[in-house]
Amino acid sequence: MSDQRPRILTGDTPTSTGLHLGHYVGSLENRLQLQDRYDCYFLIANVHAFTTLAERPDDIRANTLGIVKDWLAVGLDPDRSTFVLQSEIPAIAELTFLFAMLLPFNKVMRNPTLKTEIETKGLGDSYPFGFPMYAVGQCADILAFRPELVPVGEDQEAHIEMCRDVALKFNQLYCGVGNRVPAAEHAQAGGVFPIPSAKIGRVARLVGTDGTNKMSKSLNNAIFLYDDPKQVQKKINGIVTGRASPTAPIDPRHVLLQYADAFLPAERAKEIRSMYAEGREVMDGHVKAEIGGAINTLLTPMRERRARLETPEGEGVVLDVIRRGIRRANAVAEGTLLAAKTAMRLNFGSRVIQ
Ligand code: TRP
Repeated sequence: MSDQRPRILTGDTPTSTGLHLGHYVGSLENRLQLQDRYDCYFLIANVHAFTTLAERPDDIRANTLGIVKDWLAVGLDPDRSTFVLQSEIPAIAELTFLFAMLLPFNKVMRNPTLKTEIETKGLGDSYPFGFPMYAVGQCADILAFRPELVPVGEDQEAHIEMCRDVALKFNQLYCGVGNRVPAAEHAQAGGVFPIPSAKIGRVARLVGTDGTNKMSKSLNNAIFLYDDPKQVQKKINGIVTGRASPTAPIDPRHVLLQYADAFLPAERAKEIRSMYAEGREVMDGHVKAEIGGAINTLLTPMRERRARLETPEGEGVVLDVIRRGIRRANAVAEGTLLAAKTAMRLNFGSRVIQ
């Protein structure tokens, strides 16, 4: 498939049974809009899931299928975009090892995204070698497809920065790109890799229903795309405003107002904000019903599509989508690997494995 559209790559790690609203406003929604204008690669980082769930392979498999179902349910289209199953793309594993030589060990260990994860997931100092390694792997996930843009949530920025470092260094070391060539010109200057940029979603960081932490399955503050309407409303109703009376003001950063911004039309969110700010009488329950309703309106068609995939035929559809994606992804990633190995003087003729 020859495709002139600029390329995008992004992905999700199958560490939970499904995606939540934080994923939706931070990234999925962005992907939907980019699908026509860009040649999109959506990666399921199932190998990375083993960094924290190595003893639960059945869960990782179920979560992997769950993510593909969520993608199809929100409207990612496997005919227009390529779904990439990380474990079936050998070029990614090979590039990971090669890129590991270009990153100082201490720099990887100082990566703020890894540090935050070690804290929030309570990994202590018992995490496996493969845990920090996944950040190097993520550089390979991205660069194997040579995209221009990587749409991600704010929490992934440090990884994208590392990926840019690797690409710059690779092009300088092995492709003769001068160290004063601007990032945007690396590809024209003969670099194997374009230097990709992060593209942060509409809501960089969606707060969870607890009102303080980022929405996350492990913190029990998430609204999942597959939650039923009652569960959604119940979770919204559980948000604490702590107002003494219906005319008491509310902190402008309060989660309820953040959700109004994220899920109600901009005009309406503004109106609600000023009602609270001006001390007019506002019933929290009404606002919660309105927000819950808007979220359900957004989620209902997705929920229906996902339910159709939760059948034996649905499972067949999902596996077929995965297999088609693997074929297309390998065609691209093998081309990149060959170019990279050639640049590294590792060109000894193509391998034949029988
Ligand atoms: N680390 C990302 C996350 O957990 C998932 C991911 C893996 C990814 N490889 C990627 C995202 C490449 C963007 C590009 O959200």
